[in-house]
Amino acid sequence: MTANPTSSVPPLTQRPAWRALEAHYQQIKDAHLRDLFAHDPQRGTKFVAEGAGLYFDYSKHRVTDETLRLLLQLAQECGLRERIDAMFRGDPINITENRSVLHVALRAPRDAVIMAEGRNVVPEVHAVLDKMSAFADQVRGGAWKGYTGQRIRNVINIGIGGSDLGPVMAYEALKDYSDRNMTFRFVSNVDGTDFVEATRDLNPAETLFIISSKTFTTLETMTNAQSARAWVLNALHDENAVARHFVAVSTNAEEVQKFGIDTANMFGFWDWVGGRYSMDSAIGLSTMIAVGPENFRQMLAGFHAMDEHFRATPFERNLPVLMGLLAVWYNNFFGAQTVAVLPYDHYLKRFPAYLQQLTMESNGKSVTLDGLQVNYQTGQIFWGEPGTNGQHSFYQLIHQGTKLIPCDFIGFSQTLNPLGDHHDLLMANLFAQTEALAFGKTPEQVKAEGTADALVPHRTFAGNHPTTTILAERLTPATLGTLVALYEHSVFTQGTIWQIDSFDQWGVELGKVLAKRIIPELQSKDEPQLNHDSSTNALIRRYRQQRGSRG
Ligand code: F6P
Repeated sequence: MTANPTSSVPPLTQRPAWRALEAHYQQIKDAHLRDLFAHDPQRGTKFVAEGAGLYFDYSKHRVTDETLRLLLQLAQECGLRERIDAMFRGDPINITENRSVLHVALRAPRDAVIMAEGRNVVPEVHAVLDKMSAFADQVRGGAWKGYTGQRIRNVINIGIGGSDLGPVMAYEALKDYSDRNMTFRFVSNVDGTDFVEATRDLNPAETLFIISSKTFTTLETMTNAQSARAWVLNALHDENAVARHFVAVSTNAEEVQKFGIDTANMFGFWDWVGGRYSMDSAIGLSTMIAVGPENFRQMLAGFHAMDEHFRATPFERNLPVLMGLLAVWYNNFFGAQTVAVLPYDHYLKRFPAYLQQLTMESNGKSVTLDGLQVNYQTGQIFWGEPGTNGQHSFYQLIHQGTKLIPCDFIGFSQTLNPLGDHHDLLMANLFAQTEALAFGKTPEQVKAEGTADALVPHRTFAGNHPTTTILAERLTPATLGTLVALYEHSVFTQGTIWQIDSFDQWGVELGKVLAKRIIPELQSKDEPQLNHDSSTNALIRRYRQQRGSRG
């Protein structure tokens, strides 16, 4: 393991800013947003930051100037500036895997210089982008034909985790920019239902599979890839068809070759790209085929704009820094356990699911970079649904329940689908929700409306629920890149404060190992000798009994 640059600083909870924040929390915890706004008429335009085309309103947060001053001091005491520089410099900040963390290089302009392991990686990044562009153009233009000479009309990305969630999310988000004559599907789950449903109405002769896997060893992906191979060969009856119907995105050329995919049809990336930070690498090949190389490059430009904002903007105006620090404020001082992400744009319906991996696989850690058990909370649970659907479902709990749930509201001033007054109605709902959450409705207001006394408590809204509103002009490929980079860097900011490695994921390993042991126990003809705990043994026996013999 590489030396940890933060090991010389005192533990988080003993830092002056942390202690000051604890004391400050005691003073401010009962302050109501109604009063904060009443005392400062400029609040709604003061606690706002702008960057890379995003308007970031954090005025409806339970913070004062002093809160921000202390949070910014905490960032400084935790070495955030140094950590950002170390990341952009290509230092191996993923210390448990001794790797650089350079997703920012994936969207760097052609003439940028970013070093990893002693060499400038930007030319390699652009070489892959160029290769992807040429391939995407061939598929989109019909020059890339299937084995029987038919045009490719369907593209199926097979991958899981970071090799799936980014591509699905981006495809859904940018559907308006996609080639509507083509069909795009995404298979991730090892549950055969996923594959069967994705392929049941498609013609293998017109279908291209992109096998996306950083390692090319992931059980789910390899199982689905084998089923895809069988599905194609069952229809086309010739091994040579594989080369026309399968391409790979991976860092592992050896395994790609073993699978039977020509490495000429492999799009590479690098160890310094984490799976959940890879949607803008070759893992985005399906996105590029869907929206075209130019739109993909626009998306990269959006990512890059936010990278530059994060790297170069003073922290008090820096969106990802502010977002990350606010997350720490609620997580560690108010005890909030979750964050709701509420995009008021139907195209962003998979954005919360995408963020779940980004945030929870990154910051769901309980030991510090020094390997010490933390004595404070780390990563929150992220969840959400697009507005306005969530309003008729779980918003009740956010408004009147007992939990404090900070929310991110994301909206756009212009719609991609003008239809009557739908967009004004949508956005009116977004603004209304943040207003209602912040200010609520007092018992006096409820009474004044003539509500019967017995109902007053039920119809009262306590308010004081914190929200961020992120407003952009329009959902474009560039805006999407900017939004994703905002969350990526916010996650990094939080991880830096918590002194954890946001770039490893050891927590996913144990289940994988145990599953490998159980597979033969489910499949063996003879009754297996089971040595698990009594619950697992009984479940396996019952499964074997009910499943019956294989067809
Ligand atoms: O779930 C663990 C994980 O390693 C993720 O971090 C990753 O995105 C996913 O599996 C898929 O991995 P691969 O791209 O190597 O198939």
